[in-house]
Amino acid sequence: MALFDSHCHLNDEKFDNDRDVIIKEIYEAGVSNFIVVGYDLESSKKAISIAQKYDFIYATVGISPNDIPHSEEELWKLLVEIGDLAKNCGKVVAIGEIGLDYYWNSDNKDIQKSAFIKQIELANNLDLPIVIHTRDAVMDTVQILKDNNVKCKGVFHCCPQNRELIKEGLKLGFYISFAGPITFKNSKNADEVINLVPNDKILIETDSPYLAPEPVRGTRNTSVNVKFIAEKIANTKGLSFEEVANFTEENANMIFKINK
Ligand code: NI
Repeated sequence: MALFDSHCHLNDEKFDNDRDVIIKEIYEAGVSNFIVVGYDLESSKKAISIAQKYDFIYATVGISPNDIPHSEEELWKLLVEIGDLAKNCGKVVAIGEIGLDYYWNSDNKDIQKSAFIKQIELANNLDLPIVIHTRDAVMDTVQILKDNNVKCKGVFHCCPQNRELIKEGLKLGFYISFAGPITFKNSKNADEVINLVPNDKILIETDSPYLAPEPVRGTRNTSVNVKFIAEKIANTKGLSFEEVANFTEENANMIFKINK
């Protein structure tokens, strides 16, 4: 049995002092694969350099909706660099995280949308899936996915517990990745949304160092804790922990085209 953390930020500066120690801990805890996700140019480069050191670690590159520069010109320049990174480094398995976030940034919706669309085109050109971050922007996100064919599909990361988004995402052929919030005691509809997603569309993730799940909520999160997400899904669906570990690993290998 092995666990696959489909989304973490081991590239975060919170790991700068003990990254290799943490990676060893994660591996020894039975997390056999994980993906380090970029969100701007710097973090994308860092994700790649971590992935290049270890064969069980993969990277994504992209500009997140919360890291969009002010001018379009600057954005296009950045996206050329992101494209070069994706092309030239063997460990890049997706473009992401990309999407829309009107919770943190509601005054630059137009440029957020063009960055999202441009990066979908980039993913299509490179035959890569996308990792989507969306917050308070369900309608626009779904509209963009309907208007722009995403060739290799992708993943809704840390899926907000929004029924409509999950239903639309599944209809469009996307995977749904669950994170710490489904374990929170005040989470309103976790069981309902978990049951909405068929087993062959579920991924698990930590989004570490953020969003540590129960029972370690509030601590610096690492991929070791992805087991708590699997456990919550197993309990909710009446499955064994092993079953959830197995199908989430298979699903991740499938969508990120990782051949073992
Ligand atoms: Ni993230």
